Amino acid sequence: MTKRKRSSRGGGVPEPFPRLVVPGRELAGPADWPRIFGRAAPLVVEIGFGYDTFLLGRAEACPDRDHVGVERDPSRVAAFLAEAERRGIPNVRALPVSAEIALGSCFLPGSVAELHVYFPDPWPKVRHASHRLVQPWFAEAAARALRRDGVLLCATDDGPYAAQMLDVLQGSGAFRCESGDRPHLGWETKFESLWRRRGREIRHLAFRR
Ligand SMILES: C[S@@+](CC[C@H](N)C(=O)[O-])C[C@H]1O[C@@H](n2cnc3c(N)ncnc32)[C@H](O)[C@@H]1O
Repeated sequence: MTKRKRSSRGGGVPEPFPRLVVPGRELAGPADWPRIFGRAAPLVVEIGFGYDTFLLGRAEACPDRDHVGVERDPSRVAAFLAEAERRGIPNVRALPVSAEIALGSCFLPGSVAELHVYFPDPWPKVRHASHRLVQPWFAEAAARALRRDGVLLCATDDGPYAAQMLDVLQGSGAFRCESGDRPHLGWETKFESLWRRRGREIRHLAFRR
């Protein structure tokens, strides 16, 4: 993925996004993060950041941690990177791939300190429920990527999905649920604000590996 910069002759010159990490290009393998960030620091990963900037605020608030946002929609990745560049945040990168690829091959086992999943698509129709992110494969992949005592923080406004998160993650035997209520970090994502304004009940779930 490239962004275009106007040249003095009026044409567009492609220029790489500086914080974009493409597997097989900037990322040669799952052990590459210390080389990419230029240091070894705890890794914080968010899956599906959408048009929300929680991870950018978190990276600014936690300069001692490195932050990787995973998002499969290219225009959301481009908006995120433009904002990261505008704010000049050094400790954040975007991985423009699906959660399946990110968790399956972009992080060493036990290398992630925090995993955040906020308002994943709820797929409310029963026949679509298999498209939900939090499934047994996800519990296994998240448990593999997270270090022992690492945290997985999730939120949703969808009651059945919250129940599925609890069932799947606790049922995997790899996670302990630490809270079923308001938490942890004190940020509201775009979707959280939207659903709160519409009076929806929000569930925050925190799990420890
Ligand atoms: C409903 S939005 C939530 C955005 C944001 N987290 C918030 O709370 O405002 C869900 C986002 O997850 C992304 N997404 C869905 N499934 C994904 C997957 N398997 N891998 C990566 N991103 C995914 C979508 O493209 C979308 O941007």
